[in-house]
Amino acid sequence: MTADIAKINAAAAAVAYVEEGMTLGLGTGSTAAHFVRMLGQRVAQGLKVRGVPTSEATAQLARECGVPLMDVAKVGALDLCVDGADEVDPRFQLIKGGGAALLREKIIAQAARHFLVIADESKMVERLGAFPLPVEVTPFGYALTAAKIYTALRDSGCAGTEVALRETAENAPVVTDGGNFVLDCRCRAIPDAPALADRLKRITGVVDHGLFIGMARTVIVGKAKSADVLER
Ligand code: 5RP
Repeated sequence: MTADIAKINAAAAAVAYVEEGMTLGLGTGSTAAHFVRMLGQRVAQGLKVRGVPTSEATAQLARECGVPLMDVAKVGALDLCVDGADEVDPRFQLIKGGGAALLREKIIAQAARHFLVIADESKMVERLGAFPLPVEVTPFGYALTAAKIYTALRDSGCAGTEVALRETAENAPVVTDGGNFVLDCRCRAIPDAPALADRLKRITGVVDHGLFIGMARTVIVGKAKSADVLER
């Protein structure tokens, strides 16, 4: 409950960054959902914006909230992207993908002139890695890809490495909006996130990973009664 209030406070502070006529990337997850609902209220009051959702779930929520959506195929650049995170370190490096939307989230965040992250304070960490790192992989040969990822994690100095296929409650593989699988990598601590990001991207079968490096410009940290705005 406290975390939810903190998420609401972060989302409310992010709404202040939205200006008339903007094109917006709309993130995925519970914190981003608060932002979409608040945006819908502003749209009902007359604000003109258009959004690009980072998942089918966010697309559906945006439609329910009356937020007009753009076809991603027609998007050049976006003014602002607002999204949540699973972990944020002091250099604004992120782990994302807890909601299995990391690929679309990264594509949309990279298309935005301003990537703004909203998170409750439990997401702020000194070092990334306690949250299992999601890696999106092609279903074909995923166990072979998992073995390569395991080696990359171990060679990158991640402690306690384990790579597990994300499954539903019915023990079926979770399938992303792009039709891929997600491997959750228990690292405990990631000593050098940019180096690991590069290493993972070189593995055939890896579509993308949940390390967002050098992308966030603003982080809004929601607390029980307020929100702190951090700028890079
Ligand atoms: C989804 C994400 C989410 O932004 C992340 O999991 C945070 O979620 P929440 O706001 O529900 O804590 O990366 O893929």
